[in-house]
Amino acid sequence: MLTMREKKKNERKYLKDIKSISHLNEILTESQTKERLEIEIGCGNGHFITHYGEKNPSTYLIGIEIKKSRCLKILKKVKNKNLYNIEVIQGKAEDLIEKLPFSSIDVVHIYFPDPWPKARHRKRRFFRKPYLDLLSNCLKSGGRVNFATDYFDYALQAKILLSLHSDFSLIKSAPPEEIFLSVYANKFKRLDRPVRFISAIKV
Ligand SMILES: C[S@@+](CC[C@H](N)C(=O)[O-])C[C@H]1O[C@@H](n2cnc3c(N)ncnc32)[C@H](O)[C@@H]1O
Repeated sequence: MLTMREKKKNERKYLKDIKSISHLNEILTESQTKERLEIEIGCGNGHFITHYGEKNPSTYLIGIEIKKSRCLKILKKVKNKNLYNIEVIQGKAEDLIEKLPFSSIDVVHIYFPDPWPKARHRKRRFFRKPYLDLLSNCLKSGGRVNFATDYFDYALQAKILLSLHSDFSLIKSAPPEEIFLSVYANKFKRLDRPVRFISAIKV
């Protein structure tokens, strides 16, 4: 069993593999080798993206995560599983979606984003109208936004925003099973907090 120090040392060897938004063009060129392009916003420790990427080898996945330590954990999983269809960008999702080309993405995955539960912090939530406009811009027609949260009012916010947006139509759909593998999903299961899944299609 590795000590914490050995684990950290082990993960640091993936530092060179972390991409930044400035690498976007080369990532997009590489993504053309696959049939589909999907992004995950705030991938945490990478449980979703790595399991989903493993199950969908013809899909290219870009994960964006703000914390370097988490990017290293994701990359460790990517390398251990020998996955060649996943890139991890360290950065702010808001900056990435501004730069993604028009009509380039098949699915945007947003699972358990920071809920900012205090009323005065709600404006920090990712799922807001200006970012939904940017997501709409980069999604292909027929593309999807998938969103999950354990926060009732965040789910309500997402549902209202999507139903009022003229580019989106809510659809009934089961969540990808891989979302339940994450640290957060497991925590909510233990606490018996229901997970609310919302999916919308770009019309
Ligand atoms: C509550 S965690 C959920 C992680 C993961 N999706 C899961 O299901 O376990 C939210 C993640 O989003 C990341 N994050 C927060 N704000 C972000 C931003 N603006 N851009 C990219 N990642 C962000 C956090 O660092 C954290 O890893």
